[in-house]
Amino acid sequence: MTGRLAGKSALITGAARGIGAAFAKAYVAEGATVAIGDVDVARAEGTAAQIGAGAYAVALDVTSEASINEAVRSVEAQVGGIDILVNNAALFDLAPIADITRASYDKLFAVNVAGTLFTMQAAARSMIARGRGGKIINMASQAGRRGEALVAVYCATKAAVISLTQSAGLNLIAYGINVNAIAPGVVDGEHWDGVDALFAKYENRPLGEKKRLVGAAVPIGRMARAEDLTGMAIFLASAESDYVVAQTYNVDGGNWMS
Ligand SMILES: NC(=O)c1ccc[n+]([C@@H]2O[C@H](COP(=O)([O-])OP(=O)(O)OC[C@H]3O[C@@H](n4cnc5c(N)ncnc54)[C@H](O)[C@@H]3O)[C@@H](O)[C@H]2O)c1
Repeated sequence: MTGRLAGKSALITGAARGIGAAFAKAYVAEGATVAIGDVDVARAEGTAAQIGAGAYAVALDVTSEASINEAVRSVEAQVGGIDILVNNAALFDLAPIADITRASYDKLFAVNVAGTLFTMQAAARSMIARGRGGKIINMASQAGRRGEALVAVYCATKAAVISLTQSAGLNLIAYGINVNAIAPGVVDGEHWDGVDALFAKYENRPLGEKKRLVGAAVPIGRMARAEDLTGMAIFLASAESDYVVAQTYNVDGGNWMS
């Protein structure tokens, strides 16, 4: 098998749809075997079948350490270990500060922050025991670079992902494990359909308007497609990024500079 990820084994969380599914397809095209981990197991199976040989579904709820450990064990059993982890599963919510609920806060931090940390921990333990190093890519967001009036909790979770990437990056490079992150801007798909519907409610807009406005405001002139992010995801998973440690890369059409 040829390709920049030939012979590598990847686990991508939340890969049943959207950005994670696009990454899975791109990694398989580069020669990797990819475990599509998701709580939506039926959809993960459908996505794996669509991608074809090289992709398989794994049941995974990143809020449960038992489920994370079971998913890691299952990947070890099927292909011998994990070379690449992409922490991609996340939830979004939106509300003004006065309306934020404890339930929304707990849910978002459980998936986006604890899910990222403890999946990273389980994969790192497996990689360290195997002794071959590895690559961990966390999905941050432009939302983690700044506050947004209606998006306080999600922004805080993504700022935490950037911070965890820095600390884990510094710690795990001692084992040859590169930890880095990608901060997308606005990526069209089912996720943003949901975001658009929430903005329609809180900003009293017709459906679709927020999407049009945010797309037009991106310096490159449009929202991203999931495929616009795959180049960075392949780079950070490949040997080409061996000297890249603890960084978060903006892939956002010019929305944010840092
Ligand atoms: N779409 C965007 O505009 C955008 C922008 C910046 C960052 N991001 C980030 O990129 C990543 C992917 O975004 P997307 O647009 O593809 O999202 P998405 O909502 O389309 O997909 C998320 C996936 O995560 C899964 N998931 C949810 N909870 C889970 C859990 N507990 N355990 C395992 N899987 C779970 C869902 O079933 C779904 O398949 C996320 O981390 C998101 O925050 C997205």
